[in-house]
Amino acid sequence: MFNKRVRIKEVLEGDLLNREITVMGWVRTFRNNQFIALNDGSTNSNLQVVLELGKFDESLLKRITTGAALKITGILVASLGKGQKVELKAQKAEVLGDSDAEKFPLQPKKHSLEFLREIAHLRFRTNTFGAIFRIRHSLAFAIHQFFNQKGFVYLHSPIITASDAEGAGETFHVTSFDLENPTKNEDGSINYKEDFFGKPTNLTVSGQLEAELAALALGDVYTFGPTFRAENSNTARHLAEFWMIEPEMAFSDLEDDMNLAEEFIKYIIKYILENNREDLDFLATRLTEEEKQKPQNERSEMRLIEKLEFVTNNDFERLTYTEAIEILKNSAANKKKKFQYPVDKWGIDLQSEHERYLVEKHFKKPVILINYPKEIKAFYMRQNDDGKTVAAMDILAPGIGEIVGGSQREERLDVLEKRMREMNIPVEEMNWYLDTRRFGTVPHAGFGLGFERLMLFVTGMTNIRDVIPFPRFPKNAEF
Ligand code: 4AD
Ligand code: MG
Repeated sequence: MFNKRVRIKEVLEGDLLNREITVMGWVRTFRNNQFIALNDGSTNSNLQVVLELGKFDESLLKRITTGAALKITGILVASLGKGQKVELKAQKAEVLGDSDAEKFPLQPKKHSLEFLREIAHLRFRTNTFGAIFRIRHSLAFAIHQFFNQKGFVYLHSPIITASDAEGAGETFHVTSFDLENPTKNEDGSINYKEDFFGKPTNLTVSGQLEAELAALALGDVYTFGPTFRAENSNTARHLAEFWMIEPEMAFSDLEDDMNLAEEFIKYIIKYILENNREDLDFLATRLTEEEKQKPQNERSEMRLIEKLEFVTNNDFERLTYTEAIEILKNSAANKKKKFQYPVDKWGIDLQSEHERYLVEKHFKKPVILINYPKEIKAFYMRQNDDGKTVAAMDILAPGIGEIVGGSQREERLDVLEKRMREMNIPVEEMNWYLDTRRFGTVPHAGFGLGFERLMLFVTGMTNIRDVIPFPRFPKNAEF
């Protein structure tokens, strides 16, 4: 068997002293023809491998270069050097894959995130991205664990759909037509009847509508999958392809929805604090270092770990959109015209700068805003009795802004149909959705958590393109 190896994580944490073991990994550095820092991706830490002088061929030593893949068998011994408790005294060393040090883009030094984004196929091999993607995995696992423990059913909502759940028209079309020569009607328009699905289709922007169908039978469900938006937002918070977690609960109102979201976020952050401490510590130090470049007033008030602990231990602030507008309108920032978008009247859509002001400057904790004006929210949200607002909720996080968007759903058939017509949502085509309201409708609610926004929050990274393996954004679909 080839792969009779011990992972470096286990070597460093386990009880293998004085045992003969085999490890495999990639060379991070090689010093004095003697000391290899080997990393296999199982942990942020490297294993020090020691090659006894004179014991190995010169030709082999020459091939031990940064980036090369090695198989080492040796005895794990206590280390006298500083920086590690154990080291591997090599008996056998084999190069599995050479790496031309002249050409290997990753050198043993700090690279900029911009540079690493251009070599995203290799950035997994850095400490920062190793930590990020181990944390991403753990978060995904914790999310499934949370919902499983609560008795939610994991629903695979379709990726290809004929509906635009958010009604915002930001979809990517899906077709099997030759775009140079699609089948056309006599009047020159495209004949979708001849297209693969027999009608226009697109990539999903949200699994919510399908989740609602399932929730009104299974009770509590959640989706966790990729979603796609062709919004031309070239920001550090938007991706064209991002992952979303969307729970949907029957027999629930807006308050139940907020309670679930808050419990959920606290649970998964706690999970990471307990299970990914080494990687979090690494990212925390990285962030502190990076912030030293910034002026004092732009630095975070709390260190990363402290911030995460704070979130798990404190209640989120809950207030209405109307209250938030009052706070923003009367804020010094607004009066001194510090906002790019001034807050002058009720009804405006909140910009990320406003959200961040509320969270970072005013409340200094995560905030849940509820009861938004219906004009700025989606058609499916339940209308409040005031005739002006809907039972929506957004959760705003420090450093990021909106991280969750959710609502109680409009369960009253007549009210929903009327709203859909007002907003030009194709009522007839969405009969399947309305059927849930025709047959045994119940109050229900749900939300969507943007997985990469959560990743930003947890890792302290500042650009969303650095928390997904291969980011898709305007003019970029590399790898
Ligand atoms: O607020 P949104 O658009 O809500 C929905 O899609 C609802 N259907 C959710 C539901 O109620 N089931 O998106 C939800 C979240 C946002 O709060 C944000 O975190 C994330 O998805 N998000 C994005 N993340 C990265 N890039 C983008 N372009 C995003 N657009 C939304
Ligand atoms: Mg939203």
